[in-house]
Amino acid sequence: MTTLASTGKSSPVDNTQGFYQRLLRPLLFRFDPESVHEFALRVMRFGGAPLLQPAVRSLYAFDDQKLAVRLFGRVFPNPLGLAAGFDKNAVALPFLSALGFGHIELGTVTPRPQVGNPRPRIFRLPQDGGVINRMGFPSHGVERVLQNLPTQKNRAHGSLIGINVGKNKETPLEEAVNDYRQAIEALHPYADYLVINVSSPNTPQLRELQKREPLSELIRGVQEVNPNRLPLVVKVAPDLEWKELDDVLLACSDTNVSALIATNTTFSREGLITSIDEQGGLSGKPLFTRSRDVVRYIYTHTNGELPVIAAGGVSTAPDVIEMMKSGASLVQIYTGFIYEGPSLAKRVKQDLVRFLDREGLRSVHELIGVQ
Ligand SMILES: Cc1cc2nc3c(=O)[nH]c(=O)nc-3n(C[C@H](O)[C@H](O)[C@H](O)COP(=O)(O)O)c2cc1C
Repeated sequence: MTTLASTGKSSPVDNTQGFYQRLLRPLLFRFDPESVHEFALRVMRFGGAPLLQPAVRSLYAFDDQKLAVRLFGRVFPNPLGLAAGFDKNAVALPFLSALGFGHIELGTVTPRPQVGNPRPRIFRLPQDGGVINRMGFPSHGVERVLQNLPTQKNRAHGSLIGINVGKNKETPLEEAVNDYRQAIEALHPYADYLVINVSSPNTPQLRELQKREPLSELIRGVQEVNPNRLPLVVKVAPDLEWKELDDVLLACSDTNVSALIATNTTFSREGLITSIDEQGGLSGKPLFTRSRDVVRYIYTHTNGELPVIAAGGVSTAPDVIEMMKSGASLVQIYTGFIYEGPSLAKRVKQDLVRFLDREGLRSVHELIGVQ
C-alpha cells in the first residue's frame, strides 16, 4: 500500500492529535473504558452546544468535492462514517458532525429501554489496537431517543444520519420483526438511511436472523413500515461461512435492500498478541483483514450491484483506500476513533485527497472495486 506523504507543517489539528496521543489517551486509558466513554459523551454534548460547536467545526473542518460519494440517491460529503455503538442514544450528533464524519450511525436502538449486560463489558487491547465488547444493546429505548433526535438532527449539518435498530433481549426470535418494525416506525423521520442489525454477537440467537428465510421475512416486515422508502441496510457478521453469506445475498436479492454493512465485531481471537479471556465481539485492527475479505466477497459475488459499507479495523487513509478498492462505497470507524482521537476524520480526509491528487484521480468513486 502506498505511503502517504505529509506536508511537513503542523496544523492546530496535528497539535490536538499529538495532545491526544501523547497526553490524553494514556490518561484516559488508565480508567474503565465504559466510564471514559460516558465521560467523553458528556464532554461532546457540552462541546456540541450552539455557542461552542462552530469553534469545534472550524478546528476540524476539511472538505473537498473529490471526497463526495453518491449513494442511495444521496450525497455523502465524504466516505468516512462513525460506526454504530458510539452514540447509541443520539446525544452527541452536533459535536460528532463537527469532527467531520460524513455520516454518523446512531444506535443500536431497541424499542424498549434495556440495560444490557453487567459491567465491565468493554476491554481495550492496546497492543493489538483492538477492543472486546459485550455490551448487549444497552439502549434508552425509542421514546427517549425520540426526545433527543429533532434538535440533534437539526444541528448535525453536513453529516448524514443512519439509524441502526435491534430487538430487545427478552423478545423471542419469532417476534423479532415486531421490535424492528416498532423502532423503525418511530425513528424513520430522522434518518437518511436505516440499518437492521442482525449481527451483534452479544444478543442470544440474534445472528440466526441472518438465515435466508428469517432475514427475507424480517426485511419484508420492516419495508411495510418504511413508507418513504428510506434506504434499508443490513449489517452482517464477519463470522459467517461463505455459504451463509450467500444466503444473506439471496435474501437481499429476494427483497429490496439498499446495501450491506460488513462487518460487525467477531468471535474470532485469531492473531491476537494480547492474552485475554473475555467473551464478546472483537473490533479494531485484528478485524481488518476479515472485514475486507467479506467486503470483497460481497462486491464480487454481486458484480458490484449491491453497495457495501465497510467497517472493521479502519484507522488510516490506506485502510480506507484498501476497503474502497475491495468494493466499499463508504467506510465506517469505531475502534480507530478510540485510539486516534478527535482529529481522525480530518487527517484521514486530508491524506485521501493527497492520495487522489497524486494518483491523478478526480473522485473517490474511482477507487470503488478497483483491484
Ligand atoms: C464498544 C462497541 C459497541 C458497539 N455497539 C454496536 C451497536 O450497538 N450496534 C452495532 O451495529 N455495532 C456496534 N458495534 C460494532 C461497530 O459498529 C463496528 O461494526 C465494529 O466495531 C467494527 O469496526 P471497528 O473495528 O472500526 O470498531 C460496537 C463496537 C464497539 C467497539
